[in-house]
Order: sequence, then C-alpha cells, then structure tokens
Amino acid sequence: MAVTRISEAYIEELLARVNIEDVVSSYVNLTKRTGANRFGLCPFHGEKTPSFSVNPDRQMFYCFGCHKGGGAVNFIMEIENLPYPDAVVFLAKKAGMRPPDTGESRESASRRNRILELNRDAARYYRDALFGDKGRAALGYMARRKIGKPVSTRFGLGAAPDEWSALTDAMQSKGYKKTELLEAGLAKSGKNGSVYDTFRDRLLFPVIDVRGSVIGFSGRALGDGEPKYLNSPDTPVFSKSRNLFALNLAKKSKAGKLLLVEGNVDVVSLHQAGIDYAVASLGTALTEGQARLMKRFSSEVLLCYDGDEAGLRATERAIGILELAGLNVRVLRMKDAKDPDEFIVKFGADAFAALLDGSENRVDYRLRELYAKSAPGTDEGRLAFVKGAVSLLCDLNSPAERELYGRKAAEKAGISYESVESEIARELKSRSRRETAKIRREEVQVRRSVQPRDRAVRYENEVSAVAEQGVIRCILFDPETIGEARKLGLAAEEFTSPLLGAVYERLLAQDEAERRINLNVIIARFTPGEASEIMRVVSDPFRPEDAAAALRDCAEKIRAEKANRSGGAEERALAVWRQKQKGVGEK
Ligand code: UTP
Ligand code: MN
Repeated sequence: MAVTRISEAYIEELLARVNIEDVVSSYVNLTKRTGANRFGLCPFHGEKTPSFSVNPDRQMFYCFGCHKGGGAVNFIMEIENLPYPDAVVFLAKKAGMRPPDTGESRESASRRNRILELNRDAARYYRDALFGDKGRAALGYMARRKIGKPVSTRFGLGAAPDEWSALTDAMQSKGYKKTELLEAGLAKSGKNGSVYDTFRDRLLFPVIDVRGSVIGFSGRALGDGEPKYLNSPDTPVFSKSRNLFALNLAKKSKAGKLLLVEGNVDVVSLHQAGIDYAVASLGTALTEGQARLMKRFSSEVLLCYDGDEAGLRATERAIGILELAGLNVRVLRMKDAKDPDEFIVKFGADAFAALLDGSENRVDYRLRELYAKSAPGTDEGRLAFVKGAVSLLCDLNSPAERELYGRKAAEKAGISYESVESEIARELKSRSRRETAKIRREEVQVRRSVQPRDRAVRYENEVSAVAEQGVIRCILFDPETIGEARKLGLAAEEFTSPLLGAVYERLLAQDEAERRINLNVIIARFTPGEASEIMRVVSDPFRPEDAAAALRDCAEKIRAEKANRSGGAEERALAVWRQKQKGVGEK
C-alpha cells in the first residue's frame, strides 16, 4: 500500500467529483454495454474483443482478460505511469479541485521538477557547447551527415565534449548536487564518491515530451565508438518505452498523421526535408504505450522501418501493436536505401515525398510480402500463399474488406474468388470454435488458481486467504454484516494476507467513522497490482443467501487455520491449561 498523507476525506471528495467513465473514455473507446457494465478494448493488454469493463455504479474498472482493475486513481496510476500522489493530483486537476495538501506529493513533484530543470540546463549547456570550442568534432559530424543549422536548432541538438566532467562541473557550479546529476542519469558514480559525465564525445539529441519538458537524451557516437547510440537510463521523469523521439514537434504538424521510423537521424533528416510528422521509438521495440501515445495525436501511422531483415520483422510486429491501439497503418517501402536518412541523402526529399504517395495499406503490404515469400511459380507455392492469405483475411473484421482483399489474393494466385471465399468461411468457423474452447479453459484456470496474478502479492496460506476474501466479499455484498464481524471481534491482525488484512482494516475504519462503506475510496491507495487483485476478489459473482452466516463461517475458518499454524495441539493444550489456572486463581 502506498504510504501517504492524503486524507481519505479528500479522496472521497475527489472520487465523488470524477466520473470513471469520463476518465477511462480519454483512453478507451467504451463501445459495448452489457447490463450495468460498459465494455471496451483493454488498454493494458492486446485483444480484439472487448473484455475491459467499467461499472458506473461502483465507479470501478476490471478487465476480465488480464485481470487489471481498480478505481479511477488506480487507472490513472497504471495508464499514465504515475505514483499515487501524482495520480491524485492529475485527477484533481481534471476535476477542477484544488490539489491535495500533502508533503509527499509536493516532495515528489518538486523532485521531478528539479530533474526537469537540470535536464533543461544540461540541454542548454550541450547546445552552447555545440557552437563553441568543445563542439568542433560534433559540428563536423553534423556537416558530414548533412544536418543543417535550422533543423538542429529546432531539435535543440547539442554536443557532449570529449571530457570526463564538462557537464558535471558546469551543472555543479549552477548549484546542482551530485545526487541530482546521478538521479537525472546525466552522471555516473566513479571511485571515492566522485561522479563523471554519462555522455562524452557525442552528438546529443534531447528527448522532449509532449508537454515540452526535456526528459532525457540520446547521444550518437561521432566515430565508431560503442555503443553507437547511448540513451539516458530510465529516471523518475524518463521512460524509453513510454515516449517517442520528436513527438513534441510532430504533434504540431498539419499532416494529420505520423511517420514512424527507426532512427533519430532519420527523424531529423525527414524534418529537414519538410516531413515534420516523423517520430522514432527510442531504441526499443515499439510498445503498446507508445502506440497509445500516438493515438492521442493522430489516427493514422505510416511505418517506414529499415529495409533489412530485422526491419521487416519489426514492421510485422509494429503493425499488430498499432492496429491494436486502433490506429490505421500504412507501410512505406524503400528501395536502394537502408533507411529514410540514406534515401533522402541519396535521392532527395522529393523522391521521398513520391514514396509517401505510394505507401501501401497494411493488407496490401502483407499480401505482397506473403506472395514474395511463397515461391509463386509452383502449385505448392500458390497453395501456401492462399493458405497464408486466408489466415490474414480472417483477421479483418469487416466482410467488405475480406471480399476486397480476397479478390486481390485470388487474382494473384490465379484461382477463383469463390474458392478463396469458402476457405475463409471454413477458417472463420474453426477460429470461433477454438476461441470458445480457449475462453472455457481460461475460466477453469482462473477458478483453480487462488493466487493473485501480481507476483508482488502472494498468499502464504491459501486456505485462510480464501476465507479472508470471503469476509471482504460478504461486507461488500451487504455492509450490514460488518456488525457481525465486530461481534466476533475479528481483527485485521488475524488475516494471513497483509493485502486482504489492510482492506479489511480500512473497511472497519470507514464503518467506525460512520462513513458509507466505499471500496473505491479504499482501493485508491493501493498499487495497481494490489488494486487488481482486490478487484479480482470482489468481481467474482457472489450472492450468499445469508451473508452474516457466510461471514461467520469465514471467520471460523480463519481462526481454525490460525490455530493449526500456531503449533496446533500443543498451543491449544496450553490455552486450556491457562484457562484452568485462571479458574483456580479466582476461586
Ligand atoms: P540504427 O543502427 O538503425 O541507427 O538504430 P541509425 O539511426 O541508422 O544510425 P545512424 O544513421 O548510423 O546514425 C536505430 C535507432 O536505434 C537506437 C537509436 O535510437 C537509433 O536511432 N539505437 C541504435 C540505440 O539505442 N543504441 C544503439 O547502439 C543503436
Ligand atoms: Mn541511419
């Protein structure tokens, strides 16, 4: 549980003001309605049919696929990758509420701000260095790569001098501490408490997020140095897998789409050529988080990865991830150049613009790839192509699309569309059978496993944990039963699971303060993993005839387990003996 000083009353007010449907809707398209719940495609795992649910009555979300769940605060923590106090502040801003007054959120915000300030000062330092004495090598490198001054200014490019402590010295004289340089990833610790510059003798590309903050750096070696690119490590303000290089610029483009390429230099080269909507992932394979981020600014992505084998594989993978995020994907094919930068340098910006016009949509792209790979000169090759094409076509959700591309595939293979059509029908049927079977299997598995999905949460004693879950579910099903728990004197300390014990304790506290039992307020304080486990526990259908009796049973089980644990017979004998002694003394 997050240790924090934000009062429960504040959270209660905040949650009364925000509507989880609105919060979630900025990230998820809630398309279906089933009973009280609204459903959409889960933003936390890839899926094609919606299993992510929002319950407006409870004001909570739960994914039946990946089992993530919680309230609005948990959702923001997870999707924006924010710690608890920051997620609360984020929501408070949305709700037009004054931010909570806690030392901690101020502390963590000011720590982040301090790193951002340092990053900005470092970027200024590097930029000035580029045009000074220490930047000659980097400037020469830029000239060789045909990166001009205007575009370098737009990107804020800089030079890390070929020295061990150029930046560290400059920043320390501005009042930054060693620990801050380390925390920002700009310095590394050496011997005897000394620190040295992370980036040396490199051309530096600042990474700027969509709010305009410098969150990290990527440094290109000027020669054959290794590694070719060095990136800032993940820090409290920087996560490679959740940001994209140059999105701060591309989001302002009028083009209405984004061009995703592999390299930083490609991006700079493209912007220089007037293609101001190019972005790159930061030296990692494309992530779902990055796809979601792109979706916030555009609905179409053009893919132009390197033309080598690795690039082709990355393209396949990226198409899947981008489509899952709901983006329209087109693929750009390059000939006679390994990447966009090389293409532009070789053939010019106009040639690249012509390439853009000829981009294929992802189905055409895949059909062509498939065809090229399948030895189309032979009957076997053509059959293999049809088989692959049918599987591809079955991934398309619209019958019109299936027919359109089905006809193209049939023509390529030199067979009739009718036979392709019947292959498609057969494949679709067998897929839906497999899907049903899979869902059944998963359901069984979920029931069997008592253990939480999150590794950080384990149940030491599964028998007791099940009973502890029961207590919580009884109370949530019928808040009156908490009186029963009090009568029994059931204490949170008797729970074997610290997580379930903490929930129970908060429920008791709410009841004691004569506030309405409100899980949503309680759950906000837990980590996403913990919150998800709590949601898993309470999302099980549970309708006891007599909730109070069910709670009594659970309490009994918890106590029986406890007696078993604490030495069993011996312990019980001792307790009986003590009882007798007491009796003797009283006589
Ligand atoms: P490439 O090796 O394709 O680089 O890596 P590039 O951009 O064509 O390099 P130049 O043109 O020789 O300068 C593509 C991207 O992968 C990341 C960087 O973000 C780079 O832009 N990368 C590459 C790293 O993070 N580390 C490396 O060592 C290499
Ligand atoms: Mn390159």
